[in-house]
Amino acid sequence: MGKRFYITTAIDYVNGAPHLGHAYEKVLADVIARARRSMGEDVFFLTGLDEHGQKVQQAAQAEGKDSQTYCDGLALQWQELTRVLGLSNDDFVRTTQARHREVVQAVLSRLHAEGHFYKEAYDGWYSVKEETFLTDKDRNPDGTWDARWGNVVQLQEANWYFRMGRHQQWLLEYIEANPAFVQPESRRNEILGFLRSEKLGDLCISRPRARLGWGIPLPFDPDYVSYVWFDALLNYYSVPAAAGDPAAQIPPATDSKTTGSALAAWPADVHLLGKDIVKFHAVYWPIMLHALGAPLPKTILAHGWWQKDGQKMSKTTGNVVDPFSVITEWGLDAFRYYVVRELAIGPDGNWTDDSFKSRYNAELANGLGNLLNRSVNMLNKYRDGVVPAASRELAADAEAAARETADKLAGNDLQDALVAIWSLVNRANLYVEQTKPFSLAKDPAQAARLDEVLYNLVESCRVLAVLLWPFIPGTSEKIFAQLNLPGTPGDWRLATWGGLQPGHKVGAPIPLFPRKDLVKK
Ligand code: ME8
Ligand code: MG
Repeated sequence: MGKRFYITTAIDYVNGAPHLGHAYEKVLADVIARARRSMGEDVFFLTGLDEHGQKVQQAAQAEGKDSQTYCDGLALQWQELTRVLGLSNDDFVRTTQARHREVVQAVLSRLHAEGHFYKEAYDGWYSVKEETFLTDKDRNPDGTWDARWGNVVQLQEANWYFRMGRHQQWLLEYIEANPAFVQPESRRNEILGFLRSEKLGDLCISRPRARLGWGIPLPFDPDYVSYVWFDALLNYYSVPAAAGDPAAQIPPATDSKTTGSALAAWPADVHLLGKDIVKFHAVYWPIMLHALGAPLPKTILAHGWWQKDGQKMSKTTGNVVDPFSVITEWGLDAFRYYVVRELAIGPDGNWTDDSFKSRYNAELANGLGNLLNRSVNMLNKYRDGVVPAASRELAADAEAAARETADKLAGNDLQDALVAIWSLVNRANLYVEQTKPFSLAKDPAQAARLDEVLYNLVESCRVLAVLLWPFIPGTSEKIFAQLNLPGTPGDWRLATWGGLQPGHKVGAPIPLFPRKDLVKK
């Protein structure tokens, strides 16, 4: 079997409850994973948790718990999120797992043995909040430290450094030669601008255990643990490595684990993550892999950030969107649809409850829901639910929408893929207005015309179910169920016109998206 299409999300810090931003990223990755599966690819989709480091240690201390107990408790809530979001992830990594720790330590040993690290005393500024060392050039023009650094303290300590700076020219040339490596274009330009104009320093990859105990011990210096980012980035590699992936063995491979059941996933095809952590993924990560002699991922894909009502989401002000409560009130697919439709992968977005409700009513309830409901309803009412002879009046529209959707999906343009799908929803709804099946039904001389109209409507609904599956799989499966079709809509080959057979009997109509604004309070 060939290499699987491998997609990852950022692994979230377990220092609080999941919010809209985390849920958004996971849904985007799931849509891409499902689209690939529907098109026949073998996919490996990984998500998980970043459990080490100071943020987590401090959050645990604040609750009076030891770090591992604290992580174990919150991990349940985060794993619950993957279930509530309907994610089709194949694995869930926690950086405190032995499989991850062992690979991180093997990588550290290997890089140490090859002279990529050195130990040096440091005397300078340190941001506790961002766990990062600062220099005077990080100061504001007036000499103060920016609020984003939090409490900046003076620190004197010896640490281990990774000779990252010496790979700057290599990375610059690599990114210049590989336009797809960092997407979208704006983020690629940001990274290129940085690499062209600033000097890349070496990276401090250790923290003294005495100050920060919560991390993976350095195998060659037990007084230290690994810097959380060095450990976290490796999750993408440690999971396939531990599963015997021949492309993710720590070179030189000590023993060949290339058995028949080994995972073949590395290198990743897509690392999906937010705009705030592009530098870690597009600079540190490729250099770590290059130093290791491992193949590089194909694409670093950066999404934008959500605000709520034009303000940064913040737990302290209570200005957050809680995905669990939105989904409880409106249903999973309303949430999945809205976040993908509202925001392309790249720019920042703004959640407002009004905009959510307006898309729910216009596009889901009145658009898709109404189309399915009246199509199935009329077929039941006028033809006892039996599919009439095939007709191709909307075939070209449906096939054009399917082609356009596939094109957009191939470019990870999920928002425009939904726009393409809705061109068919709108076309079919307009067709009802134009052909007036309710009038045709009153005139026995129009029976053949009514057959044509009914076929085109239910067949459009069937094609829509297939196109929608990556985005809103639950709804897509409900459409198949109402059409009384066996099997899964998650197979793109079914998006060709003419699948509904004359004589097939559909089921009863059930509203997909109940109109909330019509419900009396
Ligand atoms: O950065 N809108 O974890 P994290 C959109 N552990 N996306 C958002 C967002 C928002 N308002 N807030 C956060 C970390 N995100 C590290 C990652 S990867 C090896 C280690 C996104 O919990 C953010 O951009 O702070 C990131 O991709 C993800 O949520 C996790 O953020
Ligand atoms: Mg963050």
